[in-house]
Amino acid sequence: MSDNSFVVVANRLPVDTHTAPDGTRTWAPSPGGLVSALTPVLEKHQGCWVGWPGVVGDAPEPFRTEGGVLLHPVKLTQADFEGFYEGFSNATLWPLYHDLIVTPIYSRDWWQAYREVNLRFANEVAAVAAPGATVWVQDYQLQLLPGILRQLRPDLTIGFFLHIPFPSPDLFAQLPWRTELVRGLLGADIIGFQLESNARNFAELARRQGLEVTGSVRTRGIGTWVSAGDGRRSGIGAFPISIAAAAMADLTPADLGGAERLHAELGKERTVILGVDRLDYTKGIHQRLIAFEELLETGALDPDQVCLVQLATPSRERLEHYRTTRSTVEEAVGRINGRFGRIGQPVVHYQHTSVNKTILRRYYRMADVMLVTPFKDGMNLVAKEYVACHGDNSGALVLSEFAGAAAELTQAYQCNPFDIESMKKALRDAVVGLKQQPDVLAQRMRAMHEHVMAHDVDLWASTFLECLSTAGADRQAQ
Ligand code: ADP
Ligand code: G6P
Repeated sequence: MSDNSFVVVANRLPVDTHTAPDGTRTWAPSPGGLVSALTPVLEKHQGCWVGWPGVVGDAPEPFRTEGGVLLHPVKLTQADFEGFYEGFSNATLWPLYHDLIVTPIYSRDWWQAYREVNLRFANEVAAVAAPGATVWVQDYQLQLLPGILRQLRPDLTIGFFLHIPFPSPDLFAQLPWRTELVRGLLGADIIGFQLESNARNFAELARRQGLEVTGSVRTRGIGTWVSAGDGRRSGIGAFPISIAAAAMADLTPADLGGAERLHAELGKERTVILGVDRLDYTKGIHQRLIAFEELLETGALDPDQVCLVQLATPSRERLEHYRTTRSTVEEAVGRINGRFGRIGQPVVHYQHTSVNKTILRRYYRMADVMLVTPFKDGMNLVAKEYVACHGDNSGALVLSEFAGAAAELTQAYQCNPFDIESMKKALRDAVVGLKQQPDVLAQRMRAMHEHVMAHDVDLWASTFLECLSTAGADRQAQ
């Protein structure tokens, strides 16, 4: 499909642009799970992607990526960046939807910026989408877009997917613009959430706002309908997102050799524990370091026999809570190495950078234990990526029960990241289990690997798009 009959719109494009001092423009993959998941889907459909190119004040002409995706950059000014992106999206909605891990800020100026930028995105999409096209709107930054687009282009079939959690109606009720946001979302023919609990929260909220809600929530299907107030209805369902599992699992001899060398550099006989996250306060990086430190302190783990590698992608770096999270994490890394490392042999290896997918897969493969400990996460693709890279059934996953992935990866060592003792126990059980119960661990990994391979991002996209197509056809038939 190259005629713009399938359009995805997300705040971010899959690549960010950088301009060198001599004016040369380069592109690099942009951060986050949304981009990781949608890139293979768009390449398969040869679709069109409308989004922001990651820099302020610049929107290059549309162009096609090597993978065949047509990119339509949307410009954000400095004021948009501060009010819409840093402000309303990431200092209001992000903490509110992640259950108030930090306190959301409610600013009327940011709300205005959010409305204006949603309107701009809607105008861009209305201009590029072919007659009768399917438009798939992504994530919390663009929740007003379905409603605006419905007005501008009633011919379109519009889907919306929320990549992050949807909070309980009691929390959502804090938002001064709660009615407008719900109305915006209901412009979509279907609204997808990661988990049934998220979808139920939305259905309950709609009920409290006096809208008619029928049916009960299902996974990978539409079981609930909410009246949209204009004679239409929107379908609600849970669609757990996933990864391009076959590509992730396909480790070449060079990858396997690279993984082995990486492990050898860290210490052939040492147990390597890995964390891979955007540097975000939702991810629980500091708490996992504390758990590790306490296990070293009590002698439950021996610093000569284990080490922890933490890769942290820079994220939203101007926001206060992100800055304090970074300094807390980096202080802990320094302290733990000062206490338990030796010259030339740190016990925590920390890198504040992103790495390319080839290198990342080698890290996943070489890691004996993966630590995924968010306080709250819509899904968490890192957990699924690790499992996909362990088709040989090696390794162990320590996983927060508050990650969406915990509903599927039930064979992980699950823990409560708010409870340091629970994290310590899960980590210690995983490390000890590798030595003492290798068969049990292999069985656990096998079950998780099979699940991830059978529930990949293709399944996610195809089930969502099938439901959307049916809902769009039903609306037109009415
Ligand atoms: P989020 O979307 O909140 O960042 P996810 O775990 O769902 O969390 O997705 C993160 C994505 O970013 C994954 O695809 C992961 O591979 C990638 N990623 C995270 N940290 C790094 C890193 N340091 N280097 C490269 N990729 C990373
Ligand atoms: C999460 C969000 C995405 C976002 C990504 C990176 O995955 O769900 O919408 O794009 O984080 O965050 P950023 O603010 O850099 O776009």
